[in-house]
Amino acid sequence: MQLRTNVNSLKGEIYVPGDKSISHRAVMFGAIAEGTTHITNFLTGEDCLSTIDCFRKMGVRIEQNDTEVIVEGKGIAGLSEPTEVLNVGNSGTTTRLLLGILAACPFHACLIGDDSIAKRPMDRVTKPLRQMGAHIDGRMNGRYTPLAIRGGALQPIEYVSPVASAQVKSALLLAGLHADGTTTVTEPHKSRDHTERMLKAFGADVHVDGLTVSVTGKQRLHAADIYVPGDISSAAFFLVAGAIVPNSEITLKNVGVNPTRTGILDVLAQMGANVSIENIRNEESEPLADITVRTSELKATEIGGELIPRLIDEIPIIALLATQAEGTTIIKDASELKVKETDRIATVVSELRKLGADIEATDDGMIIRGKTKLRANHAVVDSFGDHRIGMMLAIAACVTEGEVTLQRPEAIAVSYPSFFAHLHALQQG
Ligand code: S3P
Repeated sequence: MQLRTNVNSLKGEIYVPGDKSISHRAVMFGAIAEGTTHITNFLTGEDCLSTIDCFRKMGVRIEQNDTEVIVEGKGIAGLSEPTEVLNVGNSGTTTRLLLGILAACPFHACLIGDDSIAKRPMDRVTKPLRQMGAHIDGRMNGRYTPLAIRGGALQPIEYVSPVASAQVKSALLLAGLHADGTTTVTEPHKSRDHTERMLKAFGADVHVDGLTVSVTGKQRLHAADIYVPGDISSAAFFLVAGAIVPNSEITLKNVGVNPTRTGILDVLAQMGANVSIENIRNEESEPLADITVRTSELKATEIGGELIPRLIDEIPIIALLATQAEGTTIIKDASELKVKETDRIATVVSELRKLGADIEATDDGMIIRGKTKLRANHAVVDSFGDHRIGMMLAIAACVTEGEVTLQRPEAIAVSYPSFFAHLHALQQG
């Protein structure tokens, strides 16, 4: 696909689609709750459709009409043994959270996914779930898909996770809901807390104490109405676009601003971006706001430590932002990037270099020297099947002189099917 380059302005108002993490959880929790869960502003990206598909294969009635979803939950005991393999597609969240749920189900299930999923480490959940009593086998002793699981009676666990991962935390809490006693998970830094918030909305008893979260076992969930806020990880592409494309002013409406997700806003502020956050309000358990960004003079920054889990998915687009900032930006403590949909240290560095960026990979992040005028002489860049790399490159092209072709743009549908429609609307604005 030919990308639009050298864009002279981006103006307008956008409603980014629903949050991916929250959409997955709403379907999953609805499926194991008792009663009918209504979800609005659901993300119709491919990842969340994979979650719906997996639960339908376990007999859960789910009606999806665009962004409205109705889940007929019959409790965890209402799930039935699937006759087909469960295909998680490209979705790490589906794989890991589903394993946590299946750990408590006294039947057999097989999980497969795409080529990217087959490279992502699943032992970070299969090992502790085995300790709780689940029977799991799979490629490389359960490290990779395809995986087979037979769940059943579970023992609680006190787990100290080596990684700050909401997927690990959530998988263990979901298993812990059905264990015989209290399960606790402690993380090195706080990861996104949508599971904790939403479990409470479904009536569960969840206790948060600093970096430790606990759930008592043998709990039942009760159906809830869930409004899904706009995804700040999707908004991030337009927040950066608005800051780096000349003559721009973009307002992003109804964006989720849960503090465990707003690292991108902290970084934009540190770098001197002209961003205003208005109309902050609480919609059920998650806060929302409208965010406006204008073309900005940017300076470099350092990003590491506990900030990393608060912006892990935004690092590809932050790397582009840094190419347009004066000075040297250092991103560290981010080795988790290597096990995302692609090795995002490698893919960000290789693709931005094709546009002339001064960027180098480190063991746990990258170093970016700016400000660089990006230029391309018929460059061919590749998403490598990674939605966030594809969107980052489309925004990069906006500030690139020359011609840029994006390979595998279809990956973007994983989290933001209307991305190009929104980008084009802003170009007309
Ligand atoms: C997610 C958690 C993050 C994030 C992913 C979605 C979630 O992964 O990168 O896109 O919904 O829990 P980790 O928890 O593995 O860091």
